Amino acid sequence: MSKIVSVFGATGSQGGAVVNSLLKDGTFKVRALTRNTQSQSAKHLKSLGCEVVKCDVTDSKKEIEQALRGSYGVFLVTFSAFLFEKEAIYGKTVVDAALEAGVQHFVFSSLPNSKKITSGKIVIEEFDLKYEIEEYLRDISKKNPSFKSSFVIPPFYMQNFDQANPLFTIRKNKDGNYYLEIAVDPKSKHPFDLIDINDMGPVVVEILKDPKKYSNLSIFLNGDALSSEQICEILSKETGKPIILQYIPPKEYEKVGNPIVAKMLDFCNNYGFDDNFTLASKITKLTSFKEYLQKNTIHLK
Ligand SMILES: NC(=O)c1ccc[n+]([C@@H]2O[C@H](COP(=O)([O-])OP(=O)(O)OC[C@H]3O[C@@H](n4cnc5c(N)ncnc54)[C@H](OP(=O)(O)O)[C@@H]3O)[C@@H](O)[C@H]2O)c1
Repeated sequence: MSKIVSVFGATGSQGGAVVNSLLKDGTFKVRALTRNTQSQSAKHLKSLGCEVVKCDVTDSKKEIEQALRGSYGVFLVTFSAFLFEKEAIYGKTVVDAALEAGVQHFVFSSLPNSKKITSGKIVIEEFDLKYEIEEYLRDISKKNPSFKSSFVIPPFYMQNFDQANPLFTIRKNKDGNYYLEIAVDPKSKHPFDLIDINDMGPVVVEILKDPKKYSNLSIFLNGDALSSEQICEILSKETGKPIILQYIPPKEYEKVGNPIVAKMLDFCNNYGFDDNFTLASKITKLTSFKEYLQKNTIHLK
């Protein structure tokens, strides 16, 4: 009988990518976890062959343990926007519940420890709370060798450029030109890392299939590493409209855009992500930004 992998955030971007790849691969049975088993997305997952089980990371450890029972593997992404400072508490509870439930391999979607990397100059809670969960999980795995853990680290999604729901806006100004307003410094010596988040799926599946090989490892997922000028060049070519870079330094972007994103981009400009760039591309062909735009048309108004 196939082993079960339980996926948190199964109706969302990361978990959804993992579910799709697990179903395509077929090695594991998929248990999709959701807060609402009656939603359209949950019903769709059921129609694809997933077992759909109710689970909220804010549930008690006992309830989460019940939802995970019988699972060989778990994929967890935690949700900054909904959980705020409690993200680490809930993440650690899921880890404890998985251990109790007899899970053997836990894959966590983490982010870098901004406070440590920048010596406290840039502190991004959304990163550091995930890193706190990562450290906790590593420690539990060390103490319990039959409970393996692995980590994936996604940078900004290429999907953030989708103008139907943009994190990075392309605006048409009165002069008729299109401008990309972004706090990615064209002079930064760190290229800006991007991932088509769907590429997370095949990487997580391979990790789950080979726990020995990937146990304790962090795999950074970057399909492309570009300057902001290169981003504009590629966007211009693929949309057929010249797109001019409008660099807004993070301190100003904080006032006009999303202040958390401003801090994240300040981190990317000055420190960048991990430098373990090769492992993910050995597992799967990662989508470049150009390929992403060829597959996913960006509509400009
Ligand atoms: N956007 C980026 O560029 C980027 C880059 C790197 C990392 N991240 C990180 O990615 C995370 C978000 O992941 P995503 O993009 O996959 O999110 P998403 O697409 O917005 O999906 C959110 C998911 O969260 C689930 N969810 C929300 N609250 C929950 C709870 N209390 N218990 C259980 N499930 C809950 C929802 O499922 P139901 O409604 O079905 O329960 C939904 O599937 C954030 O923490 C962010 O920091 C984002």
